[in-house]
Amino acid sequence: MERKEYWNNVFVTKTEKEVSWYQPYPKTSIEFITALELPLTAKIIDVGGGESYFIETLLDLGYTNLTLLDVSSKAIENVKMRLGEKGAKVTFIVSDVLDFVPTVQYDFWHDRACFHFLTEPEQIEKYADIVDKALSNSGRVFIGVFSEEGPKKCSGLDVKQYTMESLRLVFEKKFQLKGCFIEDHKTPFDTIQNFLFCGFKRK
Ligand SMILES: C[S@@+](CC[C@H](N)C(=O)[O-])C[C@H]1O[C@@H](n2cnc3c(N)ncnc32)[C@H](O)[C@@H]1O
Repeated sequence: MERKEYWNNVFVTKTEKEVSWYQPYPKTSIEFITALELPLTAKIIDVGGGESYFIETLLDLGYTNLTLLDVSSKAIENVKMRLGEKGAKVTFIVSDVLDFVPTVQYDFWHDRACFHFLTEPEQIEKYADIVDKALSNSGRVFIGVFSEEGPKKCSGLDVKQYTMESLRLVFEKKFQLKGCFIEDHKTPFDTIQNFLFCGFKRK
């Protein structure tokens, strides 16, 4: 099944609390981004954002330049419905990240649990290249993936697990690793998923 179809099916058949990655408040990502003290006009993109509350929380905090990209038109539609009028301030892009041709330069690239679905070396290389094209000179990346202690699959799909070093190597040509940490995510089914979060800055 094509990626788009696959993910649309997930978002048609499951409510937000029926997916393992659900979190009512994206505490880790919000704490990371607010600590950077970016101006509220910073251009921020959430890649594979799905139905996450990341963009919505940033809107509520006063950020004005937000983009949500996802391969699933259904996820985007659900977020638009949820946001109502507030959604007018968000740019929505339905696209596979690997087909994404950025037309603006972002200051912050956020990806929680999307990148790790890319398991082929060419896909991973292409992703890093797109991040490079998408980010401004002072651009930052914050990425959350399953660690080596985390699941090997998510939503029925294989994922690639990472260590701090293997994630560093993905972005090393253009980005400097600023730091990583490990975090347990408690799913709505009371199971634990071990995540690795890393922040990068342009070299
Ligand atoms: C596990 S969910 C995580 C959603 C969200 N980031 C969060 O933390 O709640 C993965 C998301 O990535 C999207 N996705 C998967 N592969 C993608 C791709 N190649 N390009 C864009 N989006 C993708 C899916 O549609 C889904 O919304």
